Amino acid sequence: LTKKTRPPVIWIGAQECTGCTESLLRSTHPTIENLILDMISLEYHEVLSAAAGHQVEANKHRAIEQYHGQYVLVVDGSIPVKDGGIYCMVAGKPIIDHIKEAAEGAAAIIAIGSCSSWGGVASIGVNPTDARSLQDILPGKTVVNIPGCPPNPHNFLATVAHLLTYNKLPALDDKNRPKFAYGRLIHEHCERRPHFDAGRFATEFGDDGHRQGYCLYKLGCKGPETYGNCSTLEFCDVGGGIWPVGIGHPCIGCNEKDVGFSKGIHQLA
Ligand code: SF4
Ligand code: SF4
Ligand code: F3S
Repeated sequence: LTKKTRPPVIWIGAQECTGCTESLLRSTHPTIENLILDMISLEYHEVLSAAAGHQVEANKHRAIEQYHGQYVLVVDGSIPVKDGGIYCMVAGKPIIDHIKEAAEGAAAIIAIGSCSSWGGVASIGVNPTDARSLQDILPGKTVVNIPGCPPNPHNFLATVAHLLTYNKLPALDDKNRPKFAYGRLIHEHCERRPHFDAGRFATEFGDDGHRQGYCLYKLGCKGPETYGNCSTLEFCDVGGGIWPVGIGHPCIGCNEKDVGFSKGIHQLA
């Protein structure tokens, strides 16, 4: 994966909580330093760039011009469109303008996290900023969605590795998620599935069934309608069943567009 010419990456944060970046910082294969020093050339990232202010903004514009048609654009966070997009401003301009400008010359576009993929937290309920997904504001462009709140960093890294290795996107499902990561229902490969099949359920947090690791369906688990590799990939590389259901919490469907907490408004009026 280590190439003489590292592909440039421009990462723009919109209405986000930094969780998607925090998750990436904890990746181990490759590590974040291996990724940004050996594999890619990170031209702009509001959290990780050493420069700040005018300097980093100028570098982004230089990269957009210099690497036109070659760079990967990554966006985390939802994009507010209400009132001309004034609810997320960077360098005196609405973030939607920054994203549209960067999308024009991008070789590939990735929405990382459920906010960027579906609208996420900010789009739920009354949606005060009219928060939208990346695809909503870039109609006609192919946007690869890596949902999750935050997503497993290895699903993002594997997508980047696929791009670097084969010079093309991995196979995508009907919601533009990489099939290698989102091809199967969590319920299909959940460690609690034998309890589901046998009719053994936890009915309250802390009850006997919960303590014995029974199925969490009656506590609202969305695993039967959520696609993802959470149960097999797990999180944080520490082993021992570190994923929501593994630690006793029902899946809330954070990978999905219209399931659980990710329900929101997804289409521009
Ligand atoms: Fe934060 Fe989750 Fe949105 Fe990522 S998807 S920016 S972790 S709220
Ligand atoms: Fe399915 Fe959830 Fe039960 Fe696992 S805990 S078997 S994902 S319903
Ligand atoms: Fe999210 Fe459910 Fe996976 S809550 S992290 S999709 S187990």
